[in-house]
Amino acid sequence: MTTVAIVGSGISGLSTAVSLAEKGIRSVVLSPFPSERSQSVMAAGGINAVDEHDPLDSIEAHIEDTLSGGRYLAGYDAVKGLCSAAPGIIAQLERAGTVFTRNAQGGIDRRAFGGQRYKRTCYSGTATGKQIVSALVMACRRYEALGLIERRQWSDFHSALIKDGHCYGILVFDESTRELYPLYADAVVMAAGGQNALFGKTTGSTVCDGYAAGRLFMQGADLKNLEFIQYHPTTLETPQKKMLVSEAARGEGGRLFYEKAGRRIYFMEERYGDKGNLMPRDVISREMAGISEQVYLDVSFLGKDIIEHRLPEVQELCRKYRGIDITEEPIPVTPSVHFFMGGLAVDLNHETNIRELFAVGECASIYHGANRLGGNSLLAALYSGHTAAEAIAGRSYTGTHPDLTAYVSSEQEKLSQSFASESRFPVMYIRDLLAEHMQKQLGIVREKETLLDGIRDIEFYLDSVDRIHYDSSVLAYFNYSLKGLLVLAKATLLCAEARRESRGAHNRSDYPEEDPQMNCATIISYEDGAYRIHYDREGRYEH
Ligand code: FUM
Repeated sequence: MTTVAIVGSGISGLSTAVSLAEKGIRSVVLSPFPSERSQSVMAAGGINAVDEHDPLDSIEAHIEDTLSGGRYLAGYDAVKGLCSAAPGIIAQLERAGTVFTRNAQGGIDRRAFGGQRYKRTCYSGTATGKQIVSALVMACRRYEALGLIERRQWSDFHSALIKDGHCYGILVFDESTRELYPLYADAVVMAAGGQNALFGKTTGSTVCDGYAAGRLFMQGADLKNLEFIQYHPTTLETPQKKMLVSEAARGEGGRLFYEKAGRRIYFMEERYGDKGNLMPRDVISREMAGISEQVYLDVSFLGKDIIEHRLPEVQELCRKYRGIDITEEPIPVTPSVHFFMGGLAVDLNHETNIRELFAVGECASIYHGANRLGGNSLLAALYSGHTAAEAIAGRSYTGTHPDLTAYVSSEQEKLSQSFASESRFPVMYIRDLLAEHMQKQLGIVREKETLLDGIRDIEFYLDSVDRIHYDSSVLAYFNYSLKGLLVLAKATLLCAEARRESRGAHNRSDYPEEDPQMNCATIISYEDGAYRIHYDREGRYEH
């Protein structure tokens, strides 16, 4: 019987597992924590899908908004598949138990979101991710009872079992037994999320750190568009985290402003007109980066009724974390790292350049080009899971694998040696320093000198990483993942330095214009310790 290993139990991982189970294919879903603690539950605003009864909107308009929002770096075929599937995905979610907010006629309500010409974002208050996770967990439980899905927690990805460009499974680290064991599988699906923890305080989960992408890169998987890092314009600063103030607040009419000489300056409206507050995120964050005053988001004029009914989670988080009553006062907001358009390069089947190694959700790079539209990430997480499952179901597998015991034993030996010799150097301190560098050198606006400084800093850490031993005060994962993170950090800085133009979320003060010659994705590969960048002018990965 075909067995698939899925790394990650957020929406894209669950979507893959459920889609496989519907086709009678068994999977093992591995994650350090339960789905209810995945980053997916933080997805607030909604999921885009054209309302087929809307006489103005169309699938073509959704495709065009997605492509132009991403500054034309995503491929047409990929985006067409995504947008065309959206209405069916919403219907399927409803059947699975997702409760969407309704309109006065009883249909699914849709709200306005950034960079989109029509209201097409379906939502469940401002807790859409939680609703979808609950529905998928329910579906998973049903298939667990049938033996088609097995969920293993406290399980960290260590590396892939690869031979001659073909993936045969993964090495799993079990945090509860502290053992590294091989899990052979016919196909592996990476659903490990983005790279938030590499940047420290972001809107996302610290469980998602990009290690899997870094490690797979070192094992031969291509990475794509790493330089495109989305800063969400409206986040609320708290000591631990940047709390997301959902774009839904601007979708409902919220206005951004700063104060000068006692006067409110509605800078986005002044510059871009009526739709200024709902420009794509890269545009708003870039504008905010040029403003020295504190920027505020005002929703108070919408009135208590609308706020309590349509923005309850935004109201609650502002009250709880900062004591702000948004029905009376504006919210102080700053742009923060929110989403990674880059990740593992995949083709239309979501397969990487390593045979039978797939990637879905935020750890795959395919639909968003240089900037993602709000509401397209939940859609892509679900759609990518269905697509990978479909591709796997269409193949025949022998259930055999070559002898990989030499690799397995050598990695087990390396880890136990590292456990045996404790280091006084705290691994978490290096992770914190790394996050500080990444925030500084890969901010909203970049330039050559700081990027080169960043590359030198990372090289310094990379020189010593193999000499740092096990720090028993933290999870074993934090120790062995450090090198993969550093390699990913260096690859990201190299891609940002090499793209000498400004496009979408990548802004260079030394190259402020979009360069038509650079209308192509960045691909980076790792060959014998060397990083090699090339540009995908033929759309190899999308078409
Ligand atoms: O602002 C938000 O609610 C975020 C949504 C998204 O990133 O898709």
